[in-house]
Amino acid sequence: VPKVFFYPQNKEIEVASGENLLRAAMLAEVHINAPCGGDGTCGKCRVVIEKGTASKGLSAKLTTDEIAQGYCLACKTLIESDLVVRIPVESQLGDRRVLERELKASEKTFLASKDLKELVSSWRHEPPVKSYHFSLERPSLEDNVSDLDRLQRGLSKETGLENISADISLLRGLNEALRKGDWQVTVKVEHDEGRARLVSVTPALQKVANYGLAIDIGTTTISLELVDLDSGQVLAAASDYNAQISYGEDIISRIVYSLKSANLKRLQTLVIKTINKLIKEVLTKVEARAEDISYVVAAGNTTMAHLFLGVSPRYIREDPYIPAFSSITVEAGEVGLNLPEQVSVFLVPGRASYVGGDITAGVLGSGMFSSDKLTLYIDIGTNGEIVLGNADWLLACSCSAGSAFEGGSIKHGTRATRGAIEQVRIDPLTFEPMILTIGGTKPSGICGSGLIDTFAELFLSGLIDERGKFNLSSGTKRLRTVDSTAEYILVRATDADIARDIVITEGDLDNLMRAKAAIFAGINILLESVEMPIEAIERILIAGSFGRHIELDKAITIGLLPEIPSEKVEFVGNGSLLGSRLMLLSKEMKRKAKEVAKKMTYLELSTNSKFMDKYISALFLPHTNTNLFPGVMTQLRAHRSIVTKKVANNG
Ligand code: FES
Repeated sequence: VPKVFFYPQNKEIEVASGENLLRAAMLAEVHINAPCGGDGTCGKCRVVIEKGTASKGLSAKLTTDEIAQGYCLACKTLIESDLVVRIPVESQLGDRRVLERELKASEKTFLASKDLKELVSSWRHEPPVKSYHFSLERPSLEDNVSDLDRLQRGLSKETGLENISADISLLRGLNEALRKGDWQVTVKVEHDEGRARLVSVTPALQKVANYGLAIDIGTTTISLELVDLDSGQVLAAASDYNAQISYGEDIISRIVYSLKSANLKRLQTLVIKTINKLIKEVLTKVEARAEDISYVVAAGNTTMAHLFLGVSPRYIREDPYIPAFSSITVEAGEVGLNLPEQVSVFLVPGRASYVGGDITAGVLGSGMFSSDKLTLYIDIGTNGEIVLGNADWLLACSCSAGSAFEGGSIKHGTRATRGAIEQVRIDPLTFEPMILTIGGTKPSGICGSGLIDTFAELFLSGLIDERGKFNLSSGTKRLRTVDSTAEYILVRATDADIARDIVITEGDLDNLMRAKAAIFAGINILLESVEMPIEAIERILIAGSFGRHIELDKAITIGLLPEIPSEKVEFVGNGSLLGSRLMLLSKEMKRKAKEVAKKMTYLELSTNSKFMDKYISALFLPHTNTNLFPGVMTQLRAHRSIVTKKVANNG
């Protein structure tokens, strides 16, 4: 049986001869980037076979030199003998410490100036679970009702609540708990929507905390907060990549993967595994126990919500795009979370297959739902979800922007992780770039904000035209043509953390153009359907970790966002987590979330003929209608005239 050794992870696994190398890596829990889910088209699962024989997956994505060095595509490589496989840095998962930094930073961005109270004026602190300490009457021959009846009687006296139900898992320890505390108890009761149930019963001498978890189940990243339900304080936070990433980076590839037998279960196990790891981490940070957790609110896009429950997301992808459910409360034990089994997990309702609970939570957490201002809420990920509206009405759509802004369909695209190029300037005279990476380390790829910067700077410097095509007569050595595709060299191999030049190709620019056009067309369709002009927008809220890094003026230069004054734009950070926390602390906000989801009118763009027209008009820099971008046009003229003057002076 062949053994495959992966390094630098130093993990080894035995597999059958003929096994696919990408699958072997997954089994060994070694992550290899695979945005196309093993289709052989993205070229990102590059590995180097240093020892052993394999039928190598070669492709036009690899140069002759790289092939000579042993590079191959893991997804198309079949194992034939013992192997030693090196995973180069560009194929590895990013450093998760950066995610932690992101989590903290994104909270600061939005909450430094506003706390939840200010965001959502009507917010009242009233968590779904409360704890009570009290004494029960001792049993006697005269008063010989059952332990549960006695407890319910005591609780009713204490809280005024009737018909408090108890799960079997709780009954199993009830008699001992009551006697151990000598009939003094601490009881946690969940009371919501007219239903009351026991969450835990502990002898009174034992200290019990009343904590909750807010979870954002992202396609790429899962973030979690441990919140004290009594004080409202966030005690700890943690974040990590969703372990499902190894099975495709976007929603569609996860759905496709889940259709094969046993794969649905595997995807569910992976997401639960990631969440359990994060639960352990936050509990350890504050020396708490799983029993301290009384309630969970989780939000994710509709596909992630299905996979979290192990429900097939098959029909999300098929016309008329119907999800199996929109909102549900389950018990932690039913989904395999390492918490007391009867703890309730509330999944935030979504509006449609492509506008999920994460967007509902964002609309809630950002206060948009209760504001009089006409607000545009944008969450840019693999899908661009957009909501327009105010306290009276909400209109939502989702544009499949592709994964370009997450680096997915970009040759050297990467996530926002250490070594990712996040800022770019191109000198308009010399066409030389200046770059900044996350963590200030050697560059290994370009993340979303870096891609927007590069696109805008190439345009401003005149290296590309309005259609996003390279101007090959510019005379710079930074521009070259490889296999009849023009590309700009952003970083030479000698300066990079990967053994090749980091470039942006004309194909990458096409993908970015399509992605930005889809978002802009989506914004336009929403505005048009309520007959409002761009100027009517009073506030833009940009959610998601991607949003936090982008430079607003660059996003406007390429026509991704409409041209509106920067003081009207705010970065929300993780809106999904923010809203989930709010729901943990307020039953009323949970109810509001249901209302928000119902209130959102969803516009399906795939069947909207006007969307296609708007999209085509936006396949231009900044847009075919330059009147929409007067500021960008002025900037462009100024930029070009500086170049002309400098050239004349130098001449
Ligand atoms: S080419 Fe191998 S995963 Fe995309």
